[in-house]
Amino acid sequence: MVDMANPTSLRYSTHSHYHPRSAVHRRDYFGFTDCTPPEPFKPKLAFNPPPKKAFPPPPQKKAAKPPLTQSFKPPPKPSSPRPNRDPATLLSRRSVLARLSNRAQSSRPIPKLPEPLRHPIRSFQATANSSLPNHYLPNHLHRMSSITNTKAVVLDHLVDGEVSTRHFRLENKPISDIKDGQVLVQIVAFSHEPAQRQWIDANTDERRLYTTLIKPGETVRAPIVGRVIASKLPKYPVGTTLAGFHGWAEYAVLNEGEIFAAVPPTADGKVDLHALDVFGLAGNTAYVASAKYGKIEPGSTVVVSGAAGAIGSLLVQLAKKVYGAGRVVGIAGGKAKCDWVKTLGADECVDYKSPDWEEQLRAAVPDYADVYFDNVGGPMLDVMLQLVRPNGTIVVVGAISTYNGEALKLANWPQVIYNRLTIRGFINLDHPELITKGQAEFAKWIAEGKIDVSDIQTVVQDKIEDVPKTWLRLFDGSGKGKIISQIAA
Ligand SMILES: NC(=O)c1ccc[n+]([C@@H]2O[C@H](COP(=O)([O-])OP(=O)(O)OC[C@H]3O[C@@H](n4cnc5c(N)ncnc54)[C@H](OP(=O)(O)O)[C@@H]3O)[C@@H](O)[C@H]2O)c1
Repeated sequence: MVDMANPTSLRYSTHSHYHPRSAVHRRDYFGFTDCTPPEPFKPKLAFNPPPKKAFPPPPQKKAAKPPLTQSFKPPPKPSSPRPNRDPATLLSRRSVLARLSNRAQSSRPIPKLPEPLRHPIRSFQATANSSLPNHYLPNHLHRMSSITNTKAVVLDHLVDGEVSTRHFRLENKPISDIKDGQVLVQIVAFSHEPAQRQWIDANTDERRLYTTLIKPGETVRAPIVGRVIASKLPKYPVGTTLAGFHGWAEYAVLNEGEIFAAVPPTADGKVDLHALDVFGLAGNTAYVASAKYGKIEPGSTVVVSGAAGAIGSLLVQLAKKVYGAGRVVGIAGGKAKCDWVKTLGADECVDYKSPDWEEQLRAAVPDYADVYFDNVGGPMLDVMLQLVRPNGTIVVVGAISTYNGEALKLANWPQVIYNRLTIRGFINLDHPELITKGQAEFAKWIAEGKIDVSDIQTVVQDKIEDVPKTWLRLFDGSGKGKIISQIAA
């Protein structure tokens, strides 16, 4: 059972749990307002050092011989003792992590930690300058002096029309030393968001955007999960896995405002990537759309486009299994996706890639829909304007079919007038108060078996340079649920 008074106790599966964090300010999500921008990358110029001048060697001083009667003095001790080099006495990575996270499960007593490893931040400092080889150290204690720069995918130029990999390029960016209130993370995974396409669009009027455009040369922003490898933020010590907002890079310095929450590992010790879907932006958006704007009465008829996508797959389940809709119709691209959408609870799913999709859709909603959750815009929205009942509601969640420059043509627009439709757009960030509430509700619904998250991700093992290619899969329909690039274990 879930202790609602204590959200940190929430469990969304029998194996793992999630710590929802308090409300996040809207610009923390997208705006990097608190972020100290990294120094612009300056490529090193090819440089031939001048030949060294040959100086005559300094005259050798003859060492005075000690008198034979002088007593032997041991050499002075180094001021800071070096950590024990004997691998047998070093702790395994697992036991250190267990101790650090207070989650020691084993009945075997954990040996007392040697002093330099006991406090995560101090231990990092203690080991940072040692000559201990990296492979003797737990991963999260590796010497950080080597992380002075990171590979990052930056925007090459703003996009006018269809986006492709040529709009991005790989760069080496310097990593600055962390200051008080910052952490250095090794990024483990990114979630791919259609909204990123809007942040790089040449035709966007920035004054009408809820965030700033990404400028050429800037790292492409994205939600992340990452592992803290150096910390001056006691709340998130070394070893913590956290969800936050940064961009397509291997390492990043994060301010507290860019961190959403700590993410406990799964039962088998892996990074829990659900922090990027049901407990990330997708879950938050699906929750705001359904709890705030497209209120679903028991027995009502609901249509969801993009039904096999990250948000759509949650909306279908919410409509049918949480709010008790009488009939749920999904719209998705291809038979395989439609079959999957039905397993999520849809009574019917229309494959919009089939030639007669429009007739199929009309047949699937014979008595009109009470609520239409629109994730795609385009011809599907145009047909749905005729299929939402008088005084019904269209919740405009997204319009992915238009993001690559296709014009949105609405022949049926006057239906809004004749049938007194409510068309409601929103941005999830408008409701920070619903972030933790939604996470708590999802945790409860997952525990109750109402929301199934076992198959809502397409995780691609990527190199950082391949991340744009995976992100582009948002627009070719080759991903199911939330598409995630994982670049580290
Ligand atoms: N309002 C907000 O605050 C907010 C927040 C987050 C996201 N959004 C928006 O919500 C929508 C859904 O987001 P998401 O993260 O769940 O993305 P998503 O639905 O997972 O996006 C990928 C899917 O979109 C479909 N798609 C791509 N191009 C299409 C096209 N031209 N026509 C029709 N379908 C197309 C594809 O599915 P098929 O194979 O089925 O075609 C693809 O797999 C997006 O438009 C996004 O921008 C809004």
